[in-house]
Amino acid sequence: GIAFVNGRYGPLADAAVHVEDRGLQFADAVYEVCAVLNGRLLDWDKHCWRLRRGLAALFIEGVMGDAALGQVAARLLRANRAGDGLLYIQVTRGSARRDHPFPRDIRPTLIMTWKAFDFAARLRHQREGLAAVSLPDQRWARCDIKTTGLLANVLAKQAAKAAGGAEAVLVREDGVVTEGGSTNIWIVDAAGVLRTHPLSARILPGVMRDTLIGLARERQMLVEERAFTLDEVRSARELFMTSTTAPVVPLVTLDGVAVGDGRPGPVATRLADAMWGEIE
Ligand code: PDD
Repeated sequence: GIAFVNGRYGPLADAAVHVEDRGLQFADAVYEVCAVLNGRLLDWDKHCWRLRRGLAALFIEGVMGDAALGQVAARLLRANRAGDGLLYIQVTRGSARRDHPFPRDIRPTLIMTWKAFDFAARLRHQREGLAAVSLPDQRWARCDIKTTGLLANVLAKQAAKAAGGAEAVLVREDGVVTEGGSTNIWIVDAAGVLRTHPLSARILPGVMRDTLIGLARERQMLVEERAFTLDEVRSARELFMTSTTAPVVPLVTLDGVAVGDGRPGPVATRLADAMWGEIE
């Protein structure tokens, strides 16, 4: 594959950044993962909006504008003869001798890579559902910023995997479910209401989360951006996750116990169909 690093397009195998890049030393960086279907970027504007928001929150300046970013992305997709897959974008503050505060006159590092991704395999997950494992949310207090500082997510997802699950459902000390290790989490509660955690510093404002709220409301489905607890998940009719890489995927067991009747529910199925209908 071909990668883009700081103005150069070249073989992924040779793509590299400096050993003193602050992305490497401090996770002083933000990223985006965008879906590409038939060579076309999905929800590009929403990804740009979130990237700008993250850059502003971290005071990273000097990154090319959205239109120029779009041109780099388009050229990279062409160079890779991209079909279905994922575009990865990372912006770090740049490289400099190690020192915690921002160095002066530093230029950001911009990286873009592409990889093929099998969205069709996700359709199978959507039909069969996956297993989830609850784990403590041990992340920092600005989860709304999509930084590459993902160690708590990595450890939670690894623990979930070791326990036979496909996703970690992250739970705060007060019992509130925030989101998944790399997804937003939804329930259809005991009263039949579709719920997901409200936007706050505790969760990432997911692109797919936003899209799904729109799709649900267009269909006159009741959606509440209202937090729920792990106990409420246990008595929910349905549990599912959304993300760029798992558009709408039912979670049919939690900690080895069936959620609802242990099969993908009607709400998740209807929303998944609506979402794919929108894309194709
Ligand atoms: N993860 N929450 C977290 C913590 C995430 O990392 C992600 C995305 C989401 C869903 O966001 P979106 O709908 O915009 O993809 C929610 C990406 C895909 C990743 O890290 O690979």
